[in-house]
Amino acid sequence: MKRFGILTSGGDCQGLNAAIRGVAKALYEEFDEEVEIYGIQDGYRGLIEGIYCKMKPNDFSGILTLGGTILGTSRQPFKLMRVVAEGQVDKVQAMKANYKRMNLDCLIILGGNGTHKTANLLSEEGLNVVTLPKTIDNDIWGTDMTFGFHSALEIATNVIDCIHTTATSHGRVFIVEIMGHKVGWLPLYAGIAGGADVILLPEIPYNIKSIAKTLKERNKAGKRFSILAVAEGAISLDESKLSKKEFKAARAAMTQPSIAYRVANEIEQITGQEIRVTVPGHFQRGGQPCAYDRMLSTRFGAAAARLIMQKNYGNMVALRNGSIVPVPLSEVAGKLKTVPVSCEEIQAARDIGITFGD
Ligand code: F6P
Repeated sequence: MKRFGILTSGGDCQGLNAAIRGVAKALYEEFDEEVEIYGIQDGYRGLIEGIYCKMKPNDFSGILTLGGTILGTSRQPFKLMRVVAEGQVDKVQAMKANYKRMNLDCLIILGGNGTHKTANLLSEEGLNVVTLPKTIDNDIWGTDMTFGFHSALEIATNVIDCIHTTATSHGRVFIVEIMGHKVGWLPLYAGIAGGADVILLPEIPYNIKSIAKTLKERNKAGKRFSILAVAEGAISLDESKLSKKEFKAARAAMTQPSIAYRVANEIEQITGQEIRVTVPGHFQRGGQPCAYDRMLSTRFGAAAARLIMQKNYGNMVALRNGSIVPVPLSEVAGKLKTVPVSCEEIQAARDIGITFGD
């Protein structure tokens, strides 16, 4: 009898259930009746606290198109994993103990960057671990694409599309704030796909005067409206010169609810134009996975099962140049896949007149 544990950790995204289904179905196929799968509840929290249950094959049916995660998820900050406060359990030891208690052959972990740091830690501690890269941010090092990204892209693009019609009617300037954490993949792609006029990314610090100049030029050219796709992680040129500590303090002192509102405020002060702000927020992570994500999640799931069959543990399944390949967790952990400022996508955007506020 083979026993596997599966958990989803960190922020949810579309395609998690499709990936869970993919890996479970492939494992049941390969091992016939000789397999038990334990669903661990709410990510690492369930592994720490020993909250899990034996799943039935039918539990993995009918979930391909379902958003969120049937296993639940939670954020367990990596920096606290090693901290054992007085009177508290040692989380790493607790996770190892529950892995042993379940008598697992392998733990399958679906997660983003923070999750991968902990997965690598568990692998270093001697647990058999295989991971799948999920996140709408597409910021996991080692894979060309994460599942969740394309579904969120569809939603964010749709938001910009909808803003277009009202912006055109009223002749207004709109800012759409797009998720992506500290990287700009989602705002970049949604901005281009949605036809934004200005895109602000964390990778290209913005100069507010340059944005104001673009807007004035558009006015002069008779354009009735302008749309700015602003990354939630966008930073100004001045902020880019601050130390980490100074940056944190500056952001803590910010009076606006988010970066989009601050940019709006700054532009209003320079141009006198009234700006409207739209923040779709977690909407971008919700709902059904798009066809691309169902496909990628299923491919990742099947590939993870293949790695398990081969006892090729300590790896993340990754998409590279169209193929699914294993990437060692030690290479993935602690790195961030940012948008290269000279990438082809940014060049294409510049070629058609989109500006980046630099
Ligand atoms: O990592 C996915 C993500 O949606 C980011 O884009 C965003 O910065 C963050 O999670 C939001 O986190 P939370 O769900 O904890 O508010």
